[in-house]
Amino acid sequence: LSDLKFMYEGKAKKLYEYDEDKTLIYYKDDVTANNGEMKDNMKGKGNINKKFSVYFFKMLEEKGIETHFVEDVDENSFIAEKVDIIPLEVIVRNYAAGSFCRRYGVEKGMKLEFPLVEFSLKDDTLGDPMISKDAALAIKLTDEKTINYLKDQALKINKILNNYFLEKNIILVDYKLEFGIKNGKIILADEISPDTCRFWDSKTKESLDKDVYRESKGNLVDTYSSLTRRLGL
Ligand code: C5P
Repeated sequence: LSDLKFMYEGKAKKLYEYDEDKTLIYYKDDVTANNGEMKDNMKGKGNINKKFSVYFFKMLEEKGIETHFVEDVDENSFIAEKVDIIPLEVIVRNYAAGSFCRRYGVEKGMKLEFPLVEFSLKDDTLGDPMISKDAALAIKLTDEKTINYLKDQALKINKILNNYFLEKNIILVDYKLEFGIKNGKIILADEISPDTCRFWDSKTKESLDKDVYRESKGNLVDTYSSLTRRLGL
């Protein structure tokens, strides 16, 4: 790691240059919530999120979804394609929770009529505000073809993930995806982990994700570890 050129540090990850067109992504033990208001370091979290991401990126690749994953490296890192991240967070919701409930006053746990894809502007200083397709086009953030493609890919990914979690008796409530551009192609990037997804036990509706930290209702690493064991990762 120390031999590699440092590129960028985010809230939960560090990026190093691996070679001309690859990066090494290091998953930190840092955990933040509420746009940085809550902040902690939880030993073992980075390893779990790395494991999760590798597992799901590989699974999605097998099902025909192109991702940035290249090769697993060690406890906390994997090698990924260098991409230009599209500054839109793609949020997929199957059930109402979190900001969706606050925004529309609907009850937490309501099953949505269809999987909903929303976009947020990826900008910490603005608090990642929700953005409509038209607003994204009007401010020339992206083009129509790209935004339509993001939605289609998100729905394809959602089918694959929903099938997987259904079998495990886990509800995939909602999650965030990020995509990047590599040689003109749009591929899935960033991470898929209990930091970026909401999972509930189908029977008990107990949270198996970062909500245990956001809502101070349990130990984050214990929750993530038991989820990992339950999924056999
Ligand atoms: O906060 P909200 O309810 O809109 O989050 C929806 C989903 O997207 C949750 O699973 C959350 O973990 C994820 N998310 C994220 N990063 C953000 C915003 C949301 O991973 N910046």
